[in-house]
Amino acid sequence: MTSSLDRMPQRVVILGQGYVGLPVALRAVEAGFDVVGFDVDAERVQRLAQAESFIDDVSDDMLRDVLATGRFHPSSDVADLAGFNVAVISVPTPLREGAPDLRYIESAGEMLAPHVRTGSCVILESTTYPGTTEEILVPILERGSGLAAGTDFSVGYSPERIDPSNPTWHFRNTPKIVSGIDDNSLKDVTEFFAALVDETVPAPGLKEAELAKLLENTFRHVNIALVNELAMYAKELGVDVWAVIDAAATKPFGFMKFTPGPGVGGHCLPIDPSYLSWQVRRSLGHAFRFVELANDVNEHMPDYVVTRVAEKLNAVRRSVNGSTILVLGLAYKKNSGDARESPAIAAAQRLVQRGAVVRAADPLIDARLVPNGVTLVDATPEELDGADLVLVLTDHDAFDWQAVEAVESKVLDTRNRLRGTAAEIL
Ligand SMILES: NC(=O)c1ccc[n+]([C@@H]2O[C@H](COP(=O)([O-])OP(=O)(O)OC[C@H]3O[C@@H](n4cnc5c(N)ncnc54)[C@H](O)[C@@H]3O)[C@@H](O)[C@H]2O)c1
Repeated sequence: MTSSLDRMPQRVVILGQGYVGLPVALRAVEAGFDVVGFDVDAERVQRLAQAESFIDDVSDDMLRDVLATGRFHPSSDVADLAGFNVAVISVPTPLREGAPDLRYIESAGEMLAPHVRTGSCVILESTTYPGTTEEILVPILERGSGLAAGTDFSVGYSPERIDPSNPTWHFRNTPKIVSGIDDNSLKDVTEFFAALVDETVPAPGLKEAELAKLLENTFRHVNIALVNELAMYAKELGVDVWAVIDAAATKPFGFMKFTPGPGVGGHCLPIDPSYLSWQVRRSLGHAFRFVELANDVNEHMPDYVVTRVAEKLNAVRRSVNGSTILVLGLAYKKNSGDARESPAIAAAQRLVQRGAVVRAADPLIDARLVPNGVTLVDATPEELDGADLVLVLTDHDAFDWQAVEAVESKVLDTRNRLRGTAAEIL
């Protein structure tokens, strides 16, 4: 088989222009490829064409620059998938009633299949359980193209490790795991990503690459659950858990620092480990106990935060019902506008259910994501003064922390931002 990567100019299509697909598309343009940024969401495509970003790490200026090259073509027209050399699928992989929902991968495969030609290379990037590429995607591509994977065209899996808002590690300098259905596919996948990132790391097969991604996220999920559970017990024991973690983190080997918080959120941690436990249960009939325990602990954290709010109000003879609570941060992580599966939103909703007057400040999230019953406000000194309790759920740098410190005695801080003040820390 002649590799499509031997031919220039190279046309790349990226299916899915979200947190993962858009940065890949931009980097591919920068590396000299001709790129179709394909998304079924026509509104997103229109915004991209107007250099209007909806992703934290991509600025409008970056979009303007790639559009100016004439090699970035945002599109929601399937006809634009034609003639590609390399296709990257980076579509969502959510859970539906606790089970993997692969319909986005399936539909992306169906759209792509008629355009697969001899020598094409198709790479799946979405996070999923081992076996997906070979058992779900490949049959769709073969059926729709009439060609054979491996023999006629290349297929690979390369998990995305992007960490939105991470100032140090970004798409280019994070090593990228690559895999292929056969040696030739691995060569094509490696060659493509070697043009985009500093380092590629070959995995022996598709399933190893798929499982490596789930291991990475499960590792993080389990360790966050460990410190979250420790935080609850340390509080009862009268021990400062944050000081404990800082002390343990001075060990130069065998320990990795994770910090407690109001729970886990985003597209990855609350979902990916469940792909693994679902597959283990379905294929082997066993419970993946670490994953289930971690889910249990992390999902409980918003309730624990509400309990701590109630205790703090109780200490000044107030109830949650009727108190004004100013929530700082609704996104699931600092300096990000991503509110998917955010535990901060879960905690705010629970406070509303208990009758609190919840006002929330988050300069980064889309106002449409603010839950019912919560009023979006700015964290002005007046708002801080007017609240009975200030609850720090996401410690964005954009907040005026000096102003928050001015009302320290009524602050419950789940992020340890106000350490050393009179604020109560989780
Ligand atoms: N967000 C992260 O930090 C991150 C990190 C690593 C891996 N991942 C994984 O990458 C995948 C994508 O996640 P994301 O955060 O980019 O999701 P996202 O929701 O930000 O973007 C996905 C995009 O795919 C589009 N889409 C859906 N079906 C499509 C189709 N058939 N063809 C073309 N476009 C389609 C959606 O309209 C959306 O714009 C998921 O599997 C996720 O688990 C995400």
